[in-house]
Amino acid sequence: MRMYDIIMKKRNGGELTEQEIQFFIEGYTKGEIPDYQVSALMMAIYFQKMTEPETAALTLAMAHSGDMLDLSEIQGCKVDKHSTGGVGDKTSLALTPMVAACGIPVAKMSGRGLGHTGGTIDKLESFAGFNVALSREQFIENVNKIGIAIMGQTADLAPADKKLYALRDVTATVDNMSLIASSIMSKKLAAGADAIVLDVKTGSGAFMKTLEDAVALAEEMVKIGNHAGRKTVAVVSDMDQPLGYAVGNALEVKEAIDTLKGQGPADFTALCLELGSQMLVAGDAAKDADTAKAMLQQVIADGSALKKLAQFVEAQGGNPDWVYHPEQLPMAGHVVDVLAPAEGYVQKITCDEVGICSLMLGGGRETKESEIDLAVGLVLKKKVGDYVQKGEALAQLHINDLSRQEAVTKRLLDAYIIGEEQPESSQLIKCIVS
Ligand code: URA
Repeated sequence: MRMYDIIMKKRNGGELTEQEIQFFIEGYTKGEIPDYQVSALMMAIYFQKMTEPETAALTLAMAHSGDMLDLSEIQGCKVDKHSTGGVGDKTSLALTPMVAACGIPVAKMSGRGLGHTGGTIDKLESFAGFNVALSREQFIENVNKIGIAIMGQTADLAPADKKLYALRDVTATVDNMSLIASSIMSKKLAAGADAIVLDVKTGSGAFMKTLEDAVALAEEMVKIGNHAGRKTVAVVSDMDQPLGYAVGNALEVKEAIDTLKGQGPADFTALCLELGSQMLVAGDAAKDADTAKAMLQQVIADGSALKKLAQFVEAQGGNPDWVYHPEQLPMAGHVVDVLAPAEGYVQKITCDEVGICSLMLGGGRETKESEIDLAVGLVLKKKVGDYVQKGEALAQLHINDLSRQEAVTKRLLDAYIIGEEQPESSQLIKCIVS
C-alpha cells in the first residue's frame, strides 16, 4: 500500500477502505508517513468528505493507535464531557469540579487550542506547574482520591489524534464533520469513560456554522459512542457569540473561578448547569434534570465546587491558592479599550473573528511549534442585544505586544455589527440528541 495512492483516491472522491485508513493512521503514528502527505490527505478529506463507514473506521483506528484506558479500578459510573470547540468556551474548567463535587467521578482527556478555538489543556497550564501529562496510574489514583483528573493526550493515548489535531490546527483542516467526530470520539473511547456528554456548538464561532450541520455531527458522534457501548448524549448549544465575556487562557480561568463562586456570566452558568445535569443523570447521580440542577446549584452555593477545583489544581501540581487569589494567574502588561465607533444595539458579533483576535494577541499557535502567551486575550464589555454609546468600550484587549494592537482592534471592530434595531435574543440550548 502507498500513501500517494490513498491521497489520490480521496482527492478523486473515492471511498477509503478500513485497511487504507488503518495503514495511514499506523504509518503516521509511527512517524513513517510525513506531515506533508498527511496534510494533503486532510485537505482531500476536507473537500471530498468521508462516508459514515469511513468515519467509523477512522475513529476506531485512532482510538486503537495507543492504549485503551481501563477505568474499572474507579468506583462508580465515570462520565466524560467534550465540546466541539468554541470561543470563550471555558466550560470544562467550571463544569468538571461542579460535577465532581456532586459525587460523579470525572476522568477526562482534553485537548489544546484548535483553529480559532481555545483548549482546556492550554487553559489549565495557566496554573504554573500544572501537569497535564499524567500516567495512567496517577490519573486513576487522582480520580479515586479526589473525584477528578484531566489529562492531555500522552504518547500512549490516541496518539494518532494528538498528531492529527496539531496538524489540522495549522493547515485549515479543522472544520470537517468526519475529522471532528473521529477526533473527539477516538479520545473518548480510548479514555475509557462509561458515559459521554458532548457539547456540540453551532454558529459563527463553531466549526459547524449551521444548526443542520451541528445536529448531523451530534447524531454521528452519539451513534459512534452508543455503538461502542458508551451511554452518549449531545447537547447542541449556541456559539454565535463568545460564551461569557472572557476569551484567552488565563482570562477564561478567572471567569470559570467567578462562576464557581456564583458570580459567573448568565449564559455560561446556564450552559454549565445544562451539561452538568446531563452528566449527573447519565452517571445515575440524579433521577432527573431538575434534581441534578438543584444539586449543581448547591455545590456552587456552599463553596464545595470551588474547593474541588482547588483540590484538582493541587493534585496536578499547581498552587491551589491561585484558585482563591486568581490575580496570581498570568496577567498581560497592558489593558486597552476598544471603543464603539457608533451608538446603537450590538446586533451581531462574528464569533470566530473574536477567537482569531485572541490568537493574534498570542493566545494561540501559528505553527505546531509556537509558544502561546497564556496572559493575553479579550474581555468583552458588550454582547449581542446590549446598547452601546459611541466611544464606550466594546471590549478590552489584554495585550503584551503593543505592535499587535492596531490590527487586532481593527479586526475586532469589523466583527461587531452595531445598528438601530434591537436584535432578537437567540436560544442558548438548541436541542438534545440522545
Ligand atoms: N475537539 C476535538 O477534540 N477535535 C476536533 O476536531 C474538534 C474539537
